[in-house]
Amino acid sequence: MWTTVALVVTVLVFIFYKSSHRPSNFPPGPLVIPFLGHVVSIMIHSLPVAMMKLATKYGNIVSFKSLGEWTVLISDTELMRTTMADSAYADRMQLMLFNIRDQILLGKKWTQLGIIGTNGEVWKNQRRFTLRTLKDLGFGRRSIEPIITSELEELVEYFTQRQGQKLNIALLFNRSVVNVLWAMVIGKRFSHNDTRLHDLVDKVQNIARSFNIFHPALQFPWIHKVFPNLKVIKDIERCMKDLLAFIEEETAQHKKETGGADDLSSYLGAYQLEMKEAQREGRETPLTLPHLKANILELFMAGSETTSTTMSWAIYLMACNPEVQRRVQEELDQVVGRDNLPTFEHMDSLPYTTATIYEVQRIGNILPVGVPRQTSRDVTLQGYHIPKGTGVILNLSAAHRDPKYWKYPDRFYPQHFLTPEGKVLKPDSFLPFGFGKRVCLGESLARLELFSFMTTLMHRFSWRLSDDPRVFSKVNMIRMPPSYTVTATSRTDDSTITRKG
Ligand code: HEM
Repeated sequence: MWTTVALVVTVLVFIFYKSSHRPSNFPPGPLVIPFLGHVVSIMIHSLPVAMMKLATKYGNIVSFKSLGEWTVLISDTELMRTTMADSAYADRMQLMLFNIRDQILLGKKWTQLGIIGTNGEVWKNQRRFTLRTLKDLGFGRRSIEPIITSELEELVEYFTQRQGQKLNIALLFNRSVVNVLWAMVIGKRFSHNDTRLHDLVDKVQNIARSFNIFHPALQFPWIHKVFPNLKVIKDIERCMKDLLAFIEEETAQHKKETGGADDLSSYLGAYQLEMKEAQREGRETPLTLPHLKANILELFMAGSETTSTTMSWAIYLMACNPEVQRRVQEELDQVVGRDNLPTFEHMDSLPYTTATIYEVQRIGNILPVGVPRQTSRDVTLQGYHIPKGTGVILNLSAAHRDPKYWKYPDRFYPQHFLTPEGKVLKPDSFLPFGFGKRVCLGESLARLELFSFMTTLMHRFSWRLSDDPRVFSKVNMIRMPPSYTVTATSRTDDSTITRKG
């Protein structure tokens, strides 16, 4: 019996040692609790707080283990920029979220579908085609203005009818942003009263808000196997299934409406045309139906909650900072005029407003740890050896609060983005969209949307908080403003307004 006990103890000590021992010449970090790693701290604090605590205690390059995997956290601005630009850090960490989707689409996991979670040739092909097609459709260019304008008109109407009322506006922005995306993807928009739009927004939001890369159930495939009915997994699975069913339904509807004719006016049409042509010419193409569905799903997941949360931060911060709001409105009145409406033509003539939008993004810091990367080969980082396949987290919170770059790191201060002469300036430490090869695919669209929404809503209304917000929800991947209600007051007489370029 003692031999068995000794054997079990030896095996346990060995497992304990192996799972908690840092590889040689690896960055410093906290003691590793076998099997759990640093996950307890991440579950107790929110993800960004846990990361900032690590950076404060161990420095700019920290290693920690989350459940089974070693991860390196980088918190120095220059180092973040160097690593983000280096292709050795351009792979994406494998995320369980995409496994759940791939299982639904293809009946198996780790299949490498889509853009966000893929690497190598698959990633290159899907990203290149998507970016090129969306650009052809006006993504990031002025030709998308009419689509954004339709959304704004609906929003302005909504606020005009509810002047003086206490409003919770969070969901409104999601509807507008999803509609802009939908217009590009499939070529049509929903009315804001359409229950299918509400449903779509709810599903995308549920996934985005519940998603935490370090949640044990979303990290270990075996947890999924042993506890297939865990709520967090079931919820994501259900939303994914519904979203994919919705995409399939709309795709079928689109086919019916176009009668199967070539359609280059939407992403869906352009993708299908390329597949059809490749088949006709008997050549291979990396474009397939499962990739198409995965890409569309990702455009919604990556593009809607991020942009609408930033808008929600914008109204919140403007309502909390009446002096900044007044200066933005003053600039809009001078450059655009009270009887005109802001358009993309005004973009380069509104430095204070532009600086304010950037400052909203810096303070809002909506993706505090970006989207995790992974090393594609062995690398040396400031003398440390980091093996291939190590997770890499870029601590964007640290960059957005770096006192070397920001005069008042914790204060809302649009002058951070202005030269003394009043010209717009973008410090290197401003990284809301990431950087390098994996930089946000939707950056240019998001910029146009933020500009249009901010300028129109500030030009047309004044905003004030209607009661004390202050309850911040726990941050998973996306950092929301506290829940708040606002009151909008119209600044102009509707009948005199026109939209001139
Ligand atoms: C304010 C809004 C947005 C913010 C703050 C944001 C931020 C980010 C960040 C930080 C990344 C990771 C970049 C990296 O690893 O270096 C990312 C990736 C991505 N974003 Fe965005 N994003 C926004 C809007 C959008 C929109 C509107 C779309 C699409 C329509 C989009 C699509 C994507 C995609 C597909 C990726 C993955 C890129 C890849 O892995 O190659 N994002 N975004």
